[in-house]
Amino acid sequence: MTAEPLILGIESSCDETGVGIVRGHTLLANEVASSVEEHVRFGGVVPEVASRAHLEAMVPALQRACETAQVDLGELDGIAVTAGPGLMGALVVGLASAKALASHLDKPLYGLNHLAGHVAVDLLEHGPLPTPCVALLVSGGHTSLLLVNDIATDIVQIGSTIDDAAGEAFDKVARVLGLPYPGGPVIDRAAQNGDPTAIRFPRGLTARHDLARHRFDFSFSGLKTAVARWVEQREADGDEVPVNDVAASFQEAVCDVLTAKAVDACQEYGVQHMLIGGGVAANSRLRTLLAERTAAIGVELRRPRPGLCTDNGAMMAALGAEVVRSGGRPSRLTIGADSGLPVSTILV
Ligand code: KG4
Ligand code: ZN
Repeated sequence: MTAEPLILGIESSCDETGVGIVRGHTLLANEVASSVEEHVRFGGVVPEVASRAHLEAMVPALQRACETAQVDLGELDGIAVTAGPGLMGALVVGLASAKALASHLDKPLYGLNHLAGHVAVDLLEHGPLPTPCVALLVSGGHTSLLLVNDIATDIVQIGSTIDDAAGEAFDKVARVLGLPYPGGPVIDRAAQNGDPTAIRFPRGLTARHDLARHRFDFSFSGLKTAVARWVEQREADGDEVPVNDVAASFQEAVCDVLTAKAVDACQEYGVQHMLIGGGVAANSRLRTLLAERTAAIGVELRRPRPGLCTDNGAMMAALGAEVVRSGGRPSRLTIGADSGLPVSTILV
């Protein structure tokens, strides 16, 4: 094997079928097929629909990735794949594909943690990750604060949501406002024309008594309900709903809590570097507010470009390359998918 491992990464934990190829920290291909359009009419991801879409999209994505990277499968040093967390039926499709490839090509298989992949992807854009680092992962499926001591071997979850994920809250509030799914980008746009101080929505788990037990945890369910109640009241009074102001005020509440807790984590753990990932990391207000608040305490912020923040195969390939570098043992071909895989288990 050369010093820079050539790794294929497969991702299928939710509604994106991703196949990526990297050589060490160099991105060679990142093919993503999303089934989001098929979920629109249901207002959220339907697991069965996502699984079937993965089955159809996997082989074409693999072929495109090899063509783009100009790589022959026989040259690979390993196959990395998401083993969890995620939707069980969706994960199984990626794992079965990776196992078939690994077994047919006689290459090592690396069953990896999806959340760690969201952190590792930044290496492809900004080079080696300074550690320790606090990672804020915010998507439709997860909202976590991680302390990354070593990307391949040592990640500790220091907080997570106790109910809805941040992206889920965006999606649900969009529905309340009569906006389409996925709600994040639409609320982001509507908020540009709204007043973030128009309505003071609750900031979950920030009261003194909550901080004692949940300093680094999040809760968005109360916020979502508060927005729904506010809108219902307006409608009951026969008043027009100021969609842009509600969007901006809701978004401000989410971003305020996410950034405050992420910054607090850096201070508590004496960490100089922060990284964001997940679909919600594309949010314009979150990116700006986090940049302001990290700069204020002298923390360097790493923001992968939005295309790398959302689920993709390159993130798993990037993590696979780090695991290979650090001497990680290949996974058995009998490993299963684990929908609740804890982030501390980076390699299955
Ligand atoms: O990471 P992702 O593509 O898939 C997973 O859920 O794993 O994240 C999708 C989520 C959706 O909830 C979507 O509404 C949200 O990310 N999102 C955003 C923005 N773009 C996507 N949320 C807020 N602002 C955005 N600009
Ligand atoms: Zn994800």
